[in-house]
Amino acid sequence: MRAMRAETFNGYKELKLVDLPKPAATDGKVLVRMTAAGVTPLDHAILSGKFHGSKAPLVLGNEGAGVVEEGGGTDFPVGSRVMFFGTYGAFEDGADSEWVAVRKEDLCLIPDNVDDVSAAGIPVAYLTAQVALTRAGFRAGKTVLAPAIGGSVGNAVTQLARALGAKHAMSSTTNHAKAEQAKALGFNEVVDTSLEKLGDGVRRITGGYGADIVVDGIGGEVLSEALGALALGGSLTTLGYSASRKTTIDVTNLIVPQASIRGLNMFAQPQSAVTEAWNVIVSLLKSGAVKPIVAKTFPLAEAAEALRYLVEGRPFGRVVLTV
Ligand SMILES: NC(=O)c1ccc[n+]([C@@H]2O[C@H](COP(=O)([O-])OP(=O)(O)OC[C@H]3O[C@@H](n4cnc5c(N)ncnc54)[C@H](OP(=O)(O)O)[C@@H]3O)[C@@H](O)[C@H]2O)c1
Repeated sequence: MRAMRAETFNGYKELKLVDLPKPAATDGKVLVRMTAAGVTPLDHAILSGKFHGSKAPLVLGNEGAGVVEEGGGTDFPVGSRVMFFGTYGAFEDGADSEWVAVRKEDLCLIPDNVDDVSAAGIPVAYLTAQVALTRAGFRAGKTVLAPAIGGSVGNAVTQLARALGAKHAMSSTTNHAKAEQAKALGFNEVVDTSLEKLGDGVRRITGGYGADIVVDGIGGEVLSEALGALALGGSLTTLGYSASRKTTIDVTNLIVPQASIRGLNMFAQPQSAVTEAWNVIVSLLKSGAVKPIVAKTFPLAEAAEALRYLVEGRPFGRVVLTV
């Protein structure tokens, strides 16, 4: 079968189309014929040697969608459409492949109103977003900020918080054209940081109150600015570093509002947290209350171009490989 494999972790050129043996549905695994795979910043972190614990050569792809071919039993009958996330593409061969043997607990049936390409980009962003909101004590009426409306986690947190009754579901962008695009798509609480500081925008939108919950996948200056937007007793969850792993913070942004900062690692979640998150997400997908956004698809063989487009092009929405 065809797969896109990172031969070493030394940049885009190391991503090669290879021919590998088709995996088997053994040890309770389910054989999935892939139709699409989500492209994520994790692929880039691994490929550039900036992620702990991965070993080359490695087929990348942390999430994907496909059709069950064997081993799914009654929960996932042959022919059913499924999406998944797990340690694939990080600690074992991943989704950028024609077939993947997936552990049953990592699978979720795709609702009928969601196509495979959209589904392939759902698991990482939406599970991360929902688990982050739950761990931060989200409930209806809270004010939420998730920077980068065009990014996968920022968009998913914003959509979930809005659908679940947040008083304000806010996001941001550094790019004026993306701010306009966000507005056209119905995201009305997006701070355009080319015009206004993130903290000022959040105070303006919330009438001075601030954000009870911040979920930040960007790091760097965005994280330190977002700390300044916290409401009394608020919390910021840091889970990614699209901009930078390092930043300087003003400690009074934590001290004065008695706020806190915490981390989130999706590879360290108990199965119960993931199952609970899937239940919420699937129900909102079925009702149409959340709608995944795909920016562009690329064929499997163009995985390097797809990844470059995600990281350097900073699109609005997901980048997905079609298999
Ligand atoms: N801890 C976990 O378990 C976990 C789970 C999922 C994801 N993550 C991580 O979370 C991070 C975000 O993932 P994602 O999929 O949401 O990323 P993404 O879709 O690639 O979004 C990145 C967005 O961040 C903004 N950005 C990029 N560089 C920037 C910079 N230098 N300054 C300011 N903004 C910048 C851009 O938005 P604008 O152009 O609009 O400004 C860009 O579109 C990644 O590091 C990912 O690996 C971690």
